[in-house]
Amino acid sequence: MADQYARSGDGKRPTGIPALRWEEPPEGPVLVLLDQTRLPADEAELVCTDAAVLVEAIRSLAVRGAPLLGIAGAYGVALAAARGFDVEEAAAALAGARPTAVNLAVGVGRARAAHQAELARSGDTPQAAAAALAAARALHREDAEASARMAAHGLALLDELLPAGGHRVLTHCNTGSLVSGGEGTAFAVALAAHRSGRLRRLWVDETRPLLQGARLTAYEAARHDMAYTLLTDNAAGSLFAAGEVDAVLIGADRIAADGSVANKVGSYPLAVLARYHHVPFIVVAPVTTVDPDTPDGASIEVEQRPGYEVTEVTAPQVPVAGAGGGIPVAPLGTQAYNPAFDVTPPELVTAIVTEEGAVSPVTTAALAELCARSRQV
Ligand code: MRU
Repeated sequence: MADQYARSGDGKRPTGIPALRWEEPPEGPVLVLLDQTRLPADEAELVCTDAAVLVEAIRSLAVRGAPLLGIAGAYGVALAAARGFDVEEAAAALAGARPTAVNLAVGVGRARAAHQAELARSGDTPQAAAAALAAARALHREDAEASARMAAHGLALLDELLPAGGHRVLTHCNTGSLVSGGEGTAFAVALAAHRSGRLRRLWVDETRPLLQGARLTAYEAARHDMAYTLLTDNAAGSLFAAGEVDAVLIGADRIAADGSVANKVGSYPLAVLARYHHVPFIVVAPVTTVDPDTPDGASIEVEQRPGYEVTEVTAPQVPVAGAGGGIPVAPLGTQAYNPAFDVTPPELVTAIVTEEGAVSPVTTAALAELCARSRQV
């Protein structure tokens, strides 16, 4: 992780942003998170000493984004084991902290399985804790590797679909190093295009209501000196109509066996706009985000978030006023519809890019073949 603190060309700003790290001070192991609820104003860290603190950090979105949730969940199991908590209880609480991103349950399950296997083999509790930590570290490393491969595959696809170059890419939510052991998913592709001089503009949707685009993607894009412009989610339509978007690049929280893609709410309207305007709509996600046990979009559980996220504007620096601790922007008692994600049907997805390559057109058979190939590696 140390090289992620490397300074950028101007000598002032770190280029990579480690979203979490494992530390072992004399008081006992901890998982240190960059508190994403406080970005971009404040680069504050949140120290998790047990799984319960981490569960709360996951719910509040201090740590978030599908791949990182998997990594955090795995470290959470390791933390519970290392600190002598009930590992089964911790694993259940962590896996259930948020329902949509399949990576969370996958990451938790992987560390839990390593812990159980070592316990069954040796009966030694510290050794079992070490096995859980090794599993978390392996997942962390693999995610960084997958990220680099997704970036390469995604850039190759962009160049193939847009041979004229000078890509103007629209993205939604946040998919960079804040959600990954590496440089992310969709954002990593845009970053690769930027580094090779082929990104003309990154259009960043602000991503209501929690502003992951404005707060986090703009923060990452600025650090990399990318040419980016922030827009309200509502402005995407007129941007497409003006012919200013060459491709949409987004991540995913869960991809069903039929290729339906759950991602941050607002992704589906972008897919509809992209189809109308004949613009490629590309999903970038690691194979671990594909869930063969979820047959279709209707089977994906979409997390419903508290209404105050819509009826109030929250920021750590503002005085506490509304029920959620923010400034009310709607009359008191207003009900809000606040799904965290929406589901895009496979027929609107031009391609799904993974570390194993791209699937296009998106079909059940092609996805199954990709997953099988990945299991053989
Ligand atoms: O609610 P969040 O901020 O966790 O939602 C994150 C997203 O929707 C991301 O686009 C998704 O996890 C893909 S991240 C590579």
